[in-house]
Amino acid sequence: MKLRINTDRIIGKRDPMIYGQFIEHFHRQIYGGVYEPGSPLSDEDGFRRDVLDALRKIRVPVLRWPGGCFVSAYHWKEAVGRERKPSFDKAWRVEDPNTFGTDEYIKMCRKIGCAPYICTNAGSGSAEEMSDWVEYCNLENEGRYAKWRIENGSATPHAVRYWSIGNENYLGGEIGAKTKEEWGRLVEESAKMMKRVDPSIELSAAALSDVEWNVNLLKHAGRFLRWISVHSYWDGLWQENAPADYETCMAYTKTLPDTIQKVRGLLTAMGLEKQIRIAYDEWNLRGWHHPKVDTALTEEEYLQPRDKNDLNATYTMADAVFAACFLNMCLRNCDIVGMANYAPVVNTRGLIFTHPEGIVLRSTYHVFDLFVNYMGDVAVDGFAEDPPVMNALNRKTGETAMVDALDIVATRWSDRDGIAISAVNKDPASVHTLVLEPAYAGHRVRIFTVNGPSPDAFNDIGREEISLCAGEPLVYEEGMELRLAPHSVNVIQLS
Ligand code: AHR
Repeated sequence: MKLRINTDRIIGKRDPMIYGQFIEHFHRQIYGGVYEPGSPLSDEDGFRRDVLDALRKIRVPVLRWPGGCFVSAYHWKEAVGRERKPSFDKAWRVEDPNTFGTDEYIKMCRKIGCAPYICTNAGSGSAEEMSDWVEYCNLENEGRYAKWRIENGSATPHAVRYWSIGNENYLGGEIGAKTKEEWGRLVEESAKMMKRVDPSIELSAAALSDVEWNVNLLKHAGRFLRWISVHSYWDGLWQENAPADYETCMAYTKTLPDTIQKVRGLLTAMGLEKQIRIAYDEWNLRGWHHPKVDTALTEEEYLQPRDKNDLNATYTMADAVFAACFLNMCLRNCDIVGMANYAPVVNTRGLIFTHPEGIVLRSTYHVFDLFVNYMGDVAVDGFAEDPPVMNALNRKTGETAMVDALDIVATRWSDRDGIAISAVNKDPASVHTLVLEPAYAGHRVRIFTVNGPSPDAFNDIGREEISLCAGEPLVYEEGMELRLAPHSVNVIQLS
């Protein structure tokens, strides 16, 4: 395939927050995941040093917390201060010790070097509880909550810039679900109170690609919002843990742009596309497995099955290729997509799996390493002549999708010469090649690749099939065909 690049036609400068992450009080993400006081691998504050090191390596820009469904019944005041009493988490039907709360979260963000992004309880919570949280985090010392923060050991404000109101309150299963009429007014009044505490915060609110929900939200609260939050999972595993095979996952890539296109269209129609950006603040190819959470009577039925999220064999090159296609989509839309948060970052279906002796970096971790550390920060126009296509059978629906075999985005740097092209080969079996324009003859070229020996390759304890490898430096010659291996994620750097 021939690729034509015009580095003068700029799509936009990507916000680094498109490489954001999410962590929830669910299963082993927090307790027994990143936060494990007493582990020989943890630091003086109880955080796993190996996890922090891995997060710093992919330069996590922003970390959304504490949920997710969890947040819709969470009361933040129960998890700050010297006296912490356990709560019963009604979202996930487990006891939360509350030993990890706002102050521990902020400490973790400081250790990682990322911005905090707090999702508030718009389920059972109130505008007052949300705005009290902003007081606790962002006021110098005015009022009881800022003074409480100081009493708890943080003399200076936590300075949390990013806040979202609610999590999926449009879903019937969410605690404190709302109608579209209720939602617009609740967000309006909550946003008003939160902004009265700190007008500098950037607010988002739970939304989706539903016109009526979003119109009502934006009509009532649009003036307060800088972001609109959307979520997507493509391989629904909530009730049955039957991960889709590689080809089915490639079929899912057909619908990748749908949500962004719909939300972009609505923001534009309402004249808000310059004021409000999209925060894709939960995304993952695979939905989390938590069956019968609202019906099962025994822990064997609803709690133990959650361990299946930890099966590392689930996370193959399908997850890596899909994640790369998603990040390419964010780059193509970086004029309006300003944040995206992989759901989640540690354990469950995350980038990093923890165990008592160390961590496993799953296939998707290496994709973030590749994009964060090897791609440019300015997305530019790229045009493929005669792009190859492939059929992908969705074995869960029986339908066959025709998809592009290659998914390509070109970038350059804002502060130095050169270009970086992310080139994903979705084809499970065939090599595809890329030919650049003659103008690139004589340029030094190097290909960095994330791949494994098969589409179903995965990493596990004592098993590293997938890694990020640097190819030999070459000098590009006119007509040279750059080889993209089957089921591979590549960044081609030209200097
Ligand atoms: O499956 C986990 C849940 O997915 C998150 O808690 C929620 O935000 C999303 O529906």
